Amino acid sequence: MFMKNSALLLLASFCFLCLTYKKQTANPTVDPPEEILQSAASFPIGAALGYNLLKDNVLYKEVVSREHNSVTVENAMKWGNIHPAPQTYRFEQADFIADFALARKKRIHGHTLVWYMSNPGWLKDFKGNANQWDSLMKAHIQTVVTHFKGKVAAWDVVNEAFRDDDGTLRVENRDTKPDKDNGCIWARNVGRDYLAKAFQYAHEADPNALLFYNEYGQEWSTKKTQSILAMVADFKQRNIPIHGLGLQMHIDINTSNDGIANAIRELTKTGLKIHMSELDISVNPKNEVNFVFTEELKQKQADKFKFVATTYKTLVPENQRYGITHWNVGDADSWIRSFMKRQDYPLLFDEAYQKKKAYFSFLEALK
Ligand code: G3I
Repeated sequence: MFMKNSALLLLASFCFLCLTYKKQTANPTVDPPEEILQSAASFPIGAALGYNLLKDNVLYKEVVSREHNSVTVENAMKWGNIHPAPQTYRFEQADFIADFALARKKRIHGHTLVWYMSNPGWLKDFKGNANQWDSLMKAHIQTVVTHFKGKVAAWDVVNEAFRDDDGTLRVENRDTKPDKDNGCIWARNVGRDYLAKAFQYAHEADPNALLFYNEYGQEWSTKKTQSILAMVADFKQRNIPIHGLGLQMHIDINTSNDGIANAIRELTKTGLKIHMSELDISVNPKNEVNFVFTEELKQKQADKFKFVATTYKTLVPENQRYGITHWNVGDADSWIRSFMKRQDYPLLFDEAYQKKKAYFSFLEALK
């Protein structure tokens, strides 16, 4: 009994000493605070969040709480998730992410109201004339925007309306696989002016929300960039509300620096806010089997992250910087693994949410 008590006493004293030692060593007047992304940057730093990860993964939640001050909803606000049946809206998952962000005073970026992808089966089967399709689109946009009014600061109103090859508007399906549609149900059924209508409807529902057009590939497709610029000019001329452009930036370690800089420079000329909205940098773009993430590749990725952040800071005037958002948090969370089925390491944190070399170079560039 005596032996047991002394052992317990010894253990308690050891714990007390450890705690006191830790308290003494962390001296806030001498030690600089731990550097984190959101305080290093003069503009918001975001992450796209998955519902399941945020709900179940404590480390994930901790990293986002600490590092980011803006949150994009990765999937939970897409039509297929939020409006799964004609009369059913399912807000729980998006609400969960929004509540997490609001409780921590983080900005919320809504993604996305109208897209050619991730639509529910019932919508693809819907039969109606142009007016009925228009009413359907309007009701969806206004229901979702109204639900999040005062919470969501900005919306990606339309996502990826232009084609990769020639930069023209997606309309008819050109895919050979019948179950794939690289055209757009909205352009086909509402008409080519669905873009302007979508922005108007969103604005009516929440006049204070900033409205973005979001697109990928501007760093390699100047045709796409030109189409976006033409769309913005047309909107301005017709007084259609648009406040920002999302430059997704799903790039890889070999993406041309000139291409990246050109895209940023061109879009910035519109005077609109520029959101680097979905940043990730692939290290295995050719999908090599038995891929090894070598030190050399780690350095290349770190250099690219640094270039992206530096170029954004240099080329985008302060009042146009809406921020840089990473497309998820740890490498294992990336859509490149789940959706593209590729072994890759495209983000700033590894599978265990440890900071990678890329994290430190990105952080350095922000300062
Ligand atoms: O949630 C279901 C799960 O219940 C089911 O078991 C599983 C089976 O495949 O699918 C799960 O849903 C998947 C979801 O990701 C969550 O992992 C969907 O099938 C899959 O289509 C979905 O992929 C998303 C993709 O957009 C399509 O919506 C990716 O996570 C998301 O990162 C990606 O994000 C897009 C942006 O919205 C627009 N820009 C490009 C970007 C990358 O493709």
